[in-house]
Amino acid sequence: MLEFRQVSYQYPGEDFDLIDGLSFRVAPGSLHCILGVSGCGKSTLFRMVSGLLTPKAGEIRVGGAPIGGHRRCCGYMPQRDLLFPWRTVWENVALPLEIAGGFSKAERRARAEAALADAGLDGCGDKLPRALSGGMRQRAAFARTMLAGGDLLLLDEPFSALDFLTRISMQEWLLDQWRRTGKTILFITHDVEEAIFLSQSVLVAAEAPIRALAEILVPAPMPRTRACLADPAMAALREELIGRLRKQVEP
Ligand SMILES: Nc1ncnc2c1ncn2[C@@H]1O[C@H](COP(=O)(O)OP(=O)(O)OP(=O)(O)O)[C@@H](O)[C@H]1O
Ligand SMILES: [Mg+2]
Repeated sequence: MLEFRQVSYQYPGEDFDLIDGLSFRVAPGSLHCILGVSGCGKSTLFRMVSGLLTPKAGEIRVGGAPIGGHRRCCGYMPQRDLLFPWRTVWENVALPLEIAGGFSKAERRARAEAALADAGLDGCGDKLPRALSGGMRQRAAFARTMLAGGDLLLLDEPFSALDFLTRISMQEWLLDQWRRTGKTILFITHDVEEAIFLSQSVLVAAEAPIRALAEILVPAPMPRTRACLADPAMAALREELIGRLRKQVEP
């Protein structure tokens, strides 16, 4: 579904490669969380896949084809929900259709309302974002990401601003959406427990610059329930991952 081939990236004005010859592949229909210390370049990876940044070297392929040609190759949910405060919820959700063009207002509204219903936000279309709770805003942003099209969803710390209980119910909700839609999901998080709860395997950016992502299989079957987190193998994995990340910030 997604393939990086020897991809490098350097921000203009910096004198080093943040991403250096990175190669990895993600199978269709899988769900992986990406872990790595703050500032290591995780969001930069997503910005390249979504076409906001262009690699300095190498190639990124989505669905077997190099990106660039087809613009709607993925849905990208950036680190903040970025709903426009002056647009109603449905107008926010329908934005990708407006940008793509070719949809009447009635069509845009119908599709946005259907995406909102899928996200459990029936009847919220005419509200302004400020009238929604944090979890509802994240679900509205997710609905908009779904309408952006593509079978690949890139979610950048979508739940990090939520309180613990909302966050764990959003995690269960996301696994449900993943099962129903069959999309391929990449999910950046700093929360190791969230990463192992959601992922089939976790991708760890273990060094700076990022030269590789270590793929670590999560020893629990799908569908997941929170009970699996109490399993000794899962607890051991959580501690191992925390140890790996700490090694990077405390040399
Ligand atoms: N536009 C930019 N110009 C120059 N440097 C940048 C730019 N955007 C990000 N950086 C730098 O690139 C590095 C990686 O940024 P990125 O946002 O990809 O990190 P991240 O892994 O997503 O971090 P976090 O976990 O804190 O979100 C950081 O050191 C950051 O300062
Ligand atoms: Mg980031």
